[in-house]
Amino acid sequence: MKNKGIIGSIIAIAVILIGVFAYQMGSRQTTSSATTDSSELQTVGILQFISHPSLDQIKDGVVDGLKDAGYVDGENIKIEYLNGQGDQSKLDTMSQQLISKNSDVLVGVATPAAKALANATSDIPVVMGAISDPVGSGLVKSLEEPGNNVTGLNNLSPVNQQIELAKELLPEAKTVGMIYSSSEENSLAQIARAEKKAADEGYTVNKYAISSSNEISQITQQAAGENDFLYIPQDNIIANAFDTLVQEADKAKIPVFVSVDNMVKQGGVATVGQNQYQMGIETGKIAAEMLAGADPAKTPVTVIDTGDTIINETKAAELGITIPDNLKNKAELVEGD
Ligand code: TRP
Repeated sequence: MKNKGIIGSIIAIAVILIGVFAYQMGSRQTTSSATTDSSELQTVGILQFISHPSLDQIKDGVVDGLKDAGYVDGENIKIEYLNGQGDQSKLDTMSQQLISKNSDVLVGVATPAAKALANATSDIPVVMGAISDPVGSGLVKSLEEPGNNVTGLNNLSPVNQQIELAKELLPEAKTVGMIYSSSEENSLAQIARAEKKAADEGYTVNKYAISSSNEISQITQQAAGENDFLYIPQDNIIANAFDTLVQEADKAKIPVFVSVDNMVKQGGVATVGQNQYQMGIETGKIAAEMLAGADPAKTPVTVIDTGDTIINETKAAELGITIPDNLKNKAELVEGD
């Protein structure tokens, strides 16, 4: 009798488990139908490489871009957000975590995060959030036809215009020091373009590769001592510790040209920079297309290659830089933080 009871319970549990499993399979296949039961909601997994103001804004933009397209966190989708804090092994584990949470679409913010996700799955769509060099970093076969489960947003920093802006603001300068992280493919791609443009404009270019944020202070001192101005690409490790770089450049009274809107406020002197939040919005819209069933392999990568001219008036004054009138008219003038 006792045994029969136990067997009965086991059968009952087995039936329930099969039922739950069948139900989940069913709900995964009909994920596009709107529903209020949170276990049935489509899930977007966002993986961010590291914290810095730009990536934080991009991530916020992704959430708002999804919302603009009708996908609201907690209402008709679920958003799972993880941040690798700059640690590669965390990025790999977190990619697996997002997959095991049944993400229907994954978003990788910055190159290392997008790569970790792309390595972890070849079928769930991976949306690149502001990636500098999607082809060079091996994420897509081509921008027009990505070919696999990865598509998204390529932020092609307007490097040429940034160098031209430096020339307008510093007509006397002859040497430029470019500081970047040796480990960041996104930076290497930008530096290659910036170096070419600067050389074409007649500058002597000195490059300074750092291997970790611990080196920023000492390398900046050295670079500031050897150049008329500094140029910083969209580099995650530097963006994460930008205040340190600015401090050293300020001590030496050397202007820092940056590649991002918010880094001008943080102490850079000027940029033709891309609005980071807006890039997040665009990324969110692409994620929405994927939720609606678009094929990433056939969805061209969106390329943003323009930026706004932004000048830090306070910093320019401190450094004795006169802003020409034509620039004053077209640029957005900001005060430092
Ligand atoms: N484009 C960078 C990458 O591919 C990520 C990034 C976006 C970034 N915006 C930034 C890095 C601003 C530094 C500053 O990884």
